Amino acid sequence: MRALTVVPQQAGSVRVREVEAPVAGEGELLVDGVALGICGTDQEIARGEYGSAPPGEEHLILGHESLGRVRQAPQGSGFTPGDLVVGVVRRPDPEPCGACARGEFDMCRNGRFTERGIKEIHGYGSQQWTVAADYAVKLDPALERVGVLLETASVVAKAWEQIERIGGRAWFEPRRLLVTGAGPIGLLAALLGVQRGLDVHVLDRVETGTKPQLVADLGATYHTGSIADIAAKGEPDVVIEATGASSLILDALAHNAHYGIVCLTGLSSSGRKLSIDAGELNREIVLENDALFGSVNANLRHYELAAHALARADRSWLERMITRRLPLDRAHEAFEPGGEDVKTVIDL
Ligand code: BGC
Repeated sequence: MRALTVVPQQAGSVRVREVEAPVAGEGELLVDGVALGICGTDQEIARGEYGSAPPGEEHLILGHESLGRVRQAPQGSGFTPGDLVVGVVRRPDPEPCGACARGEFDMCRNGRFTERGIKEIHGYGSQQWTVAADYAVKLDPALERVGVLLETASVVAKAWEQIERIGGRAWFEPRRLLVTGAGPIGLLAALLGVQRGLDVHVLDRVETGTKPQLVADLGATYHTGSIADIAAKGEPDVVIEATGASSLILDALAHNAHYGIVCLTGLSSSGRKLSIDAGELNREIVLENDALFGSVNANLRHYELAAHALARADRSWLERMITRRLPLDRAHEAFEPGGEDVKTVIDL
């Protein structure tokens, strides 16, 4: 069978190669790959900046945004052939830390977790893959065209859960949400904000095309100006930052409402220096009881929350988020720089 592989830490090494078909072990599902989503993390791995192969191997099968159809399932696993499934990305560290031992591997404390298609375990970018039934999530069959967005949605569902838990430290009835970045994370964060009945604002650099249209179709407001301009008309109670741009992070902190929560989900490259008045920023955070936190990955609970959120969403809106579908033999095009795509998906 064919798989999308990379030699981690080696730029430009992404290839579609013939690899041995997987055999399902005890408690595992054998799955026919349907689609694979490509995100910023995959691009980073392709540029040789992130990721590691399984110990002792040169190649890593890439891909963590999965969608597949069960071909073979163990008796009593709760799955049957034909089920639409998504595989979970992270696995607990081998000697679990306290969080991993409690199923909160997304909050791993010692960093020795592994991640499919990213860190030390093969991903889902192959025509067939296996997954432990305990790390598979069944999807509504109606989500076949968009289920590949589940992993991204799980990351967003976790961020929202954390925002609500942090908000829960005192009275919390947020009204305004600002999302910075209208990529897949930003758009799904906006969707989940709309599902919560919030007044949602999305900021991005792109002025025309799919992004403004998708935001408008959600009933949210699209902006291309500055956070200061948006906040002048009403400061956001919650900011979800999904670009990793350093200046936006600082602006989000400076322009949120009292008791504001700023959730960082984007990854920035290091080495970009900005000068800041740390004293002023500190005053602002302390005097307003603001909270700033980072959020990554998702555990099984978040995948379930995300599956409900996708099932409630307008399917044609979700489908329009997928702006490019490539056959496996043209997968390399997903790693070429440039383009205005929101989400690129590889057809397996
Ligand atoms: C994935 C997460 C993962 C993170 C860091 C993201 O692209 O969605 O599941 O934890 O990369 O490796």
